[in-house]
Amino acid sequence: MTIIVTGGAGFIGSNFVFHMLNKYPDYRIICLDKLTYAGNLSTLAPVMDNPNFRFVKEDICDREAVYKLFEEEKPDVVVNFAAESHVDRSIENPEVFLQTNILGTATLMDACRKYGITRYHQVSTDEVYGDLPLDRPDLFFTEETPIHTSSPYSSSKAGADLLVLAYHRTYGLPVTISRCSNNYGPYHFPEKLIPLMVINALHDKPLPVYGTGENVRDWLYVEDHCKAIDLIIHKGTVGEVYNIGGHNEMTNIDIVKIICKELGKPESLITHVGDRKGHDQRYAIDPTKIHNELGWLPETMFKDGIKKTIQWYLDNQDWWEPIISGEYQNYYDKMYSNR
Ligand code: NAD
Ligand code: TYD
Repeated sequence: MTIIVTGGAGFIGSNFVFHMLNKYPDYRIICLDKLTYAGNLSTLAPVMDNPNFRFVKEDICDREAVYKLFEEEKPDVVVNFAAESHVDRSIENPEVFLQTNILGTATLMDACRKYGITRYHQVSTDEVYGDLPLDRPDLFFTEETPIHTSSPYSSSKAGADLLVLAYHRTYGLPVTISRCSNNYGPYHFPEKLIPLMVINALHDKPLPVYGTGENVRDWLYVEDHCKAIDLIIHKGTVGEVYNIGGHNEMTNIDIVKIICKELGKPESLITHVGDRKGHDQRYAIDPTKIHNELGWLPETMFKDGIKKTIQWYLDNQDWWEPIISGEYQNYYDKMYSNR
């Protein structure tokens, strides 16, 4: 089995590459990644010498490069993680989100049609469902919840999902889609909530909580997400959407307080800053379908996962220090000074 994993130098994609090489020693895994600001080749260092692994630096929007790779590798399966993934950046500059997340998805699927594959899997997000009100804890996103997006990021992901379903219906492309809640774990890029707060706390810097901090996210340890995708590409039903979530809802402010406690830092570092435009209130997934049909259940409890994650950032400063000292500093100043 040959699998092309796009975006495999990013957070979830790299964890998926490690999971697959480890679990299926006879599979060939090809990582196709543009290495944007969010992609790091150093992340893939542990597998670079693995004879079953190949890294290719290309853009999923580059049709010629994508077709050439399909011709060379004749993949059986494509798992598309490649995306612009940060809501705040999408609010600043939506265009690249439309290019990569929508046009890139179309280019990959065109290659799948031209060369033939057994499965195209689209890694999507629960954000395509919009948000739920804070005062209705009885409500959850199911696969039937209407698409109703808030940010340019989630809109671009929703656009891609609709295209994927259209390629299935129109061309018979064997597709699946997964919509997962917020992930956390090793190799999470420092601009996202959990790594940002861990790294700032380690430097005794202010911890910038948007608005009241009462917004709720449903956090899933990244390995559990990778295992779910593994199950879907092997046993999932073509044409279906699967929601993935851990039933682990937490407010942002509680997450930041836990991080302070774990690191022995004072909560006085917490600073409430201007809210995100269009800020989604609550995400909460109903994962009944993937549980009933594929037997998936999350394995890592948040209390254990957050400890492991914080320890990973303590043990791997040589991974994140070069990131935060480069271009990231300009991003941080732009987004957080005078907020
Ligand atoms: P990330 O930003 O950490 O990684 C994205 C990767 O895609 C990077 O390696 C980047 O270099 C690569 N990339 C970007 N544009 C590309 C292009 N045009 N061509 C080739 N490669 C390109 O993102 P992540 O958090 O790992 O998310 C991966 C996927 O999972 C995304 O599709 C995202 O929408 C989805 N998702 C993420 C979460 C989450 O909590 N992080 C939750 C649900 C779904
Ligand atoms: P984020 O990690 O960007 O993921 P998403 O927006 O996809 O859920 O943000 C998670 C939550 O944390 C979201 O409600 C916004 C909030 N947040 C802050 O309060 N401060 C920050 O500095 C960041 C990056 C996020």
